[in-house]
Amino acid sequence: MSPEDSNRAMNNRQRKINQDSDIPTYYIFTYGCQMNEHDSEILAGQLESLGYVPSESEKEADVILFNTCCVRESAERKIYGKIGSVKKIKKEQPHTIIGVCGCMVQKPGEEKRLKEKAPHIDFVLGTDAMHLLPEMIDKASRSNNTVSRILENENRPIIEHLPKTRKDSFRAWIPIMHGCNNFCSYCIVPYVRGRERSRQPQNIINEIKELVEHDRTKEITLLGQNVNSYGADLSPEIDFADLIAEVDKIANRKRIRFMTSHPKDFSQKLIETISETKHVCEHIHLPIQSGSNRILKRMNRKYTREDYFELVKNIREEIPNVSITTDIIVGFPGETEEDFLDTVDLVEKIEWDAAFTFVYSNRGGTPAAAMSGPIDEEKKKKRLQELMSRQNSISLKTNQSLVGHKMEVMIEGVSKTNPQVWASRTRTNKLVLLPKKEEESTKPGDELTVRITEARTWTLFSKRLS
Ligand code: SAH
Ligand code: SF4
Ligand code: F3S
Repeated sequence: MSPEDSNRAMNNRQRKINQDSDIPTYYIFTYGCQMNEHDSEILAGQLESLGYVPSESEKEADVILFNTCCVRESAERKIYGKIGSVKKIKKEQPHTIIGVCGCMVQKPGEEKRLKEKAPHIDFVLGTDAMHLLPEMIDKASRSNNTVSRILENENRPIIEHLPKTRKDSFRAWIPIMHGCNNFCSYCIVPYVRGRERSRQPQNIINEIKELVEHDRTKEITLLGQNVNSYGADLSPEIDFADLIAEVDKIANRKRIRFMTSHPKDFSQKLIETISETKHVCEHIHLPIQSGSNRILKRMNRKYTREDYFELVKNIREEIPNVSITTDIIVGFPGETEEDFLDTVDLVEKIEWDAAFTFVYSNRGGTPAAAMSGPIDEEKKKKRLQELMSRQNSISLKTNQSLVGHKMEVMIEGVSKTNPQVWASRTRTNKLVLLPKKEEESTKPGDELTVRITEARTWTLFSKRLS
């Protein structure tokens, strides 16, 4: 038995729930996209149905979970660093159970690597095995080794009705589908999240109905890696436009959002449906990834810059005041200066409200990882800087055009940088700050009318009219 093992066996014998009380506590680190944010709500919900309560920090938790992301190497590095840092906690409070969940653990070979690099973790749990969390905690508390459950593609079920503890009471993430079939050549998500599986519309509608009845939920965000292909695997036939029209009918004054949209599947029917609905917000996140047709082809995105341009034109024609945001990757293998300039050119022509820009990160096992012409880090960074500075001035310009306008905003919470200020969002998803009043009953989820007074690249400032 290694010292690590004997330590663990001893801990399990003396497993003690909480130093100060009998109520067990948990702490979850969440990385990655909204889908992971939501999965963490399911992990939390299950722990709470076992009697756990959240703890202030990881230091006093009985169960520490890492819900991981592996979309870029930088995310993985950060997560490994954090997992390493809780080793100390395990040493000082050996009864603590540490679990690693989420996308990273689904990567081929990663389970083994985790066990080698971080032997202090007690269990590893895959993305579609979250319903097995109670079983894993039980097993881990009785075992001397790291235990694991990862479900492979053919056995990934959609489990309905899992308990969830939503982080914010005023908004709800609703996954409408899981996995991805697109295999963009740079992306690891299809490998770790498996094939596309749509939830039955009735299950989605029932979940939303329940939220709407409890009037506290003011905003619903429908989630999927590519919501535009919702329903392709279902019968009877239904598509995303049909679903969103149904959701709109029951939404009762709530805001409806959705993400992410793949340009190749954004139909005219969907554009028209959005423009006809009352509650669907005028914001579309529409990742382009590159403005060069040659690179788009190598990325396996299945549209051209001309297709994208046409789509944006149609969306803007049908949905007045819509805001359109995007994701862009720079430094994809083989990206020449000319390809990069095509992207810059599109940035200037489209004038996105905001763009999330990323340096290409090599993901082992994806087709792009084996492509010729890797771009060196310096060049990638330089391109990123240049792209960001172009986009930032455009974001600023679009925001400046709103100064003086009256807008409806929804309060999201206190600003992260100033406790005297509320952070809120317009229907178009712009962040608007407004001063808090001394004594007031305003709370997250409330809708207010403001006048925009000042614009910055990522933020608008306002004064309150109601
Ligand atoms: N399904 C969504 C989101 C996928 S991940 C979509 O298709 O838009 C979010 C973003 O991360 C992507 O849009 C892409 O811009 C970026 N991304 C994905 N893989 C990447 C990689 N290997 N390197 C850098 N950025 C990447
Ligand atoms: Fe990745 Fe492409 Fe799927 Fe988005 S659509 S998750 S970028 S493979
Ligand atoms: Fe990351 Fe998984 Fe989302 S890899 S971006 S958390 S689907």
